[in-house]
Amino acid sequence: MKPKHRLGALLFLAGLAIALAGAAKAEECAPLPDVAWWKNVTHEKMVEFVEKRYGGEWAPYVEKWAAQLEKLREVHDRDGAVVTKDKIRVEGEPLRQYIEKVEQRLAITRCLASKTVSTARAGEPEAGKAWVSAAECGNCHGAAGVSQHPMIPNLAGQKEGYLKIQLWQLREIPLAQKSGDKVIAARHDRIMKPLAAEMSTADIENAAAYFASRSCALPEVEATPPAPAKAQQCAACHGQNGMGKHPGIPNLAGQKEGYLIKQLKAFRKTSREEELIDHEESRYHRIMARQTANLAEGEITALAAYFSALRCR
Ligand code: HEC
Ligand code: HEC
Repeated sequence: MKPKHRLGALLFLAGLAIALAGAAKAEECAPLPDVAWWKNVTHEKMVEFVEKRYGGEWAPYVEKWAAQLEKLREVHDRDGAVVTKDKIRVEGEPLRQYIEKVEQRLAITRCLASKTVSTARAGEPEAGKAWVSAAECGNCHGAAGVSQHPMIPNLAGQKEGYLKIQLWQLREIPLAQKSGDKVIAARHDRIMKPLAAEMSTADIENAAAYFASRSCALPEVEATPPAPAKAQQCAACHGQNGMGKHPGIPNLAGQKEGYLIKQLKAFRKTSREEELIDHEESRYHRIMARQTANLAEGEITALAAYFSALRCR
C-alpha cells in the first residue's frame, strides 16, 4: 500500500548532509541543560530529528516545545503534576525547575532553527495524488478530499502547511509514548493514527500538496448565514469568512459541522483537564485551548453551524 520513495530517500540523505553542515554553525547556540529523561540530547541530535521527522522543517518542532512549555506552566500554576514517559512524577519545586529547563530548550530550539539551513522541500501534488489513491485515503475523505461523512473532515483546499502539521502530529503520537502513560498529545485519533504511522515524510509532503491543490467544490450556498457573536473572536486568525491567511491555521469555511463540533470540544477539554492529557483520544493546541476554554455548549454548536455553512472559495 505504500509506494516506495527512492527519490525521497535520496533527497533525505542530501538534506541530512546539508543539515549536519548547518549544525556545525549551531555551536553558537547555548548548550542544552541536563534533564534525566531527555537522554543526552545534543544540538546534532535535534537537527537530525527535525530532518527525519519533519523533513527539515523546524516550525512544528518549535511549536511542539512551545506547547509543552505552556501546558507545564498551567499544570504548575494549579499545583498539578506531570508524568514523564519513564513514569517519573514531577511536581512542585522540581516541576518549576523543569519548566526553566524547558524554557532554555525552547530558546535553543529557536536558535538552532534560525541557524540551520532549511532543507524543507515542497510537496509534489502529482506524486501525492498517486500515493493517496494507492493508500485509499479517498474511502473516507473522498477521492479529491471532499468528504461525505459528517465526522470526517474535508481536506480539499485546506492549507498545505496545516495539513502537514496535522499528519506529522498524528504520526508522531504513537511513537511518543508507551500505553498507560499520560502525555501532552498534540493530536491523537484512533482511526488516523495507524494510517499516518505508515506515511514517510515525503508521503506527508506530497499528500498535503495534493489535497491543498484540490477545489473544495461545495455547492453554492444561497446566502451567508448570520454570524454568531463569538465568530468575531475567531476572525483574526481564521479570517472574516473562515478562510485565514496563515499557512498553519486551517480554513473553517465549508468544513463538516459534526467534525468542527468534535474538534472544538476536544480543544476545550484540554483547557480544563486536571492532569496531562490522556493520549487515547486528544487534541491540544495552546492557542485553541485558550480560545475554547470559555465556550458554552450552545456557542460551539452555533459556531460549527456557521462556519460549515460558509463558502470555502
Ligand atoms: C477510515 C477512515 C479514514 C481513512 C481511510 C483516512 N482518514 Fe484521515 N481522518 C479520518 C477521520 C475520522 C479524521 C478526523 C479525526 C479527528 O476527529 O480528529 C481524519 C483526519 C485527517 C486529517 C486532519 C484534517 C484536519 O482538518 O485537521 C488529515 C490531514 C487526514 N485525515 C489525512 C488522511 C490521509 C492522507 C489518509 C490516507 C492515508 C487518510 N486521512 C485516510 C478518517 C480517515
Ligand atoms: C490566535 C489565533 C486563533 C484564534 C483567535 C482562533 N483560532 Fe482556531 N486555530 C488556530 C490554530 C493555530 C489552529 C491549528 C491547531 C493545530 O495545529 O492543531 C486552529 C484550529 C482550529 C480548528 C480545527 C480545524 C480542523 O480542521 O481540524 C477549529 C475547529 C478552530 N480552530 C475553530 C476556531 C474558532 C471557532 C475560533 C473562535 C472562537 C477560533 N478557532 C479562534 C488559531 C486560532
